[in-house]
Amino acid sequence: MGIPSYADRMAGVSGSAVREILKLTQQPDIISFGGGLPSADSFPMEDLKSILKELTDNLTPGLLQYGETEGYRPLREEVVKLMATKGVNVAVDDVLITSGSQQGLDLVAKSFINPGDKIIVESPTYLAALQTFRMYGAEFIEAPVDADGVMAEELDKILASEENVKLIYMIPSFQNPSGRTVSTERRQAIMEVVRKYDVVLIEDAPYEDLKYTDAVYPCMKSMDTTGQVLYFGSFSKVITPGFRLGYSIASEPILSRMIIGKQTCDLNCSVFSQAVLAEFLKRGLLPDHLKKINAEYKAKRDLMLKTLEETMPEGITWTHPEGGLFLWLELPAHMSTNDLFLKAVEKKVAYVAGDSFYAAGEPHNAMRINFSNATPDKIVLGVEKLAEVIKENM
Ligand SMILES: Cc1ncc(COP(=O)(O)O)c(C=O)c1O
Repeated sequence: MGIPSYADRMAGVSGSAVREILKLTQQPDIISFGGGLPSADSFPMEDLKSILKELTDNLTPGLLQYGETEGYRPLREEVVKLMATKGVNVAVDDVLITSGSQQGLDLVAKSFINPGDKIIVESPTYLAALQTFRMYGAEFIEAPVDADGVMAEELDKILASEENVKLIYMIPSFQNPSGRTVSTERRQAIMEVVRKYDVVLIEDAPYEDLKYTDAVYPCMKSMDTTGQVLYFGSFSKVITPGFRLGYSIASEPILSRMIIGKQTCDLNCSVFSQAVLAEFLKRGLLPDHLKKINAEYKAKRDLMLKTLEETMPEGITWTHPEGGLFLWLELPAHMSTNDLFLKAVEKKVAYVAGDSFYAAGEPHNAMRINFSNATPDKIVLGVEKLAEVIKENM
C-alpha cells in the first residue's frame, strides 16, 4: 500500500522554476540575476529594530492572540491612507490583509475559477500567478500587447467572443517580468472595455512605488467606477518580504468571498507582524524610505543598462524599465535561453529563462534579469559573464 492518487487539481502543475533557481543560486559564488529579491540593504533595519523593541518591551497579549481574518485594524487603516495617496478612496472594510499578494492571487482564483474558466493574461506575465491559476483549472488567453501594454480593442474582441472569462490579470506598472508599464491613456481605454463586461480586472501592483522617473501612472483602481477592479498591494518589495504581508482592495462582492477563502486557509496573518508594519506606516516612515531605496535601485538599473550597452553583441535587445526590479532581454529568435542556462551557471551567473512567463510556454529566446539584488560590482561582472556566454553561443 502507498499513497493515494493525487487530486485532479495537481495535474499539469509543476513547481516554480524560479523557486528552484533560487535554491541553486544560494551558492555564494554565483551572481544571481534570477530571483525577484529586493536588496538586503534596502530593508529599513534601524526603524524596524526600534519598532520591534518598543513592541516587545510593551508586549500586550493582543499581539499574540488570533486576529480578525480581514486583518489587524490599525494596519488596514494605514492601508486606507496609503491608497488615498494614490487617488483611491476606500474604507477599512474594503481592505483585506493577506500573506503577501501571492495569497491574494490564490484567494481570487479560489473564489472565481472553476476548471475550464478563462483568465486573460498579459504575455509574458508573472509565472507564479500562472502557477496559482493553473491549480484551479484555469485556461489562459494571452492578450496581445504592444509597447503601451494590453491593446484595448483586442481585449474587447476577446471578451466579446469568448465565454466564461472571469478574470483579467495585469501588472500595469514596471511589470514582472518585462519591466513594461501600461500608459495612462491605455489604462483608461482598458477600463472602458472592462466596464462593458461581467469580469474582474486584477491589478497586481507590487512594484508601483519602485519608480525611477517623474512620470505618474494613476493606478487602475483609481479609475474604477463599477467595483470591478481588485487591487493587490504588497509590502514585500518596498519594506521587506520577511513579514509576508500584502493587501487586497476590492468591493464587497469580491472581498467577502476572498475572506471566506482565507478563513479556510490560515485564519489570519500574524498579528505581531501586522502590528510592526502598521507602526512603520503610522510613524510616516514610508515616503523617505522609498526615496532612499528608489535612488539605490535607480543607480543599479542605470549601471546594468550601461554595462549591457558596453558588453552585449549586436542583435540583443532589452527593455528600459521606469521602475521595478527587472529587465527583459531578447536574443536572436534561433537561440534558446533554456539551452544557455547551464552554460551561464558554469560561468557563475544565473537568470530566469523567458518561456516560463508565457501561459503557452513560448518563446524561448528571452530572459528576465533582476538588477536590485546584486551589488554594483557583481552587476558589472555578471553582465560581462552573460555577454560572454551569449557571444560564445551565437
Ligand atoms: C507580479 C507579482 N505579484 C505578486 C508577487 C508576490 O509577492 P508577495 O507575495 O511577496 O507580496 C510577486 C513577487 O515577486 C510579483 O512579482
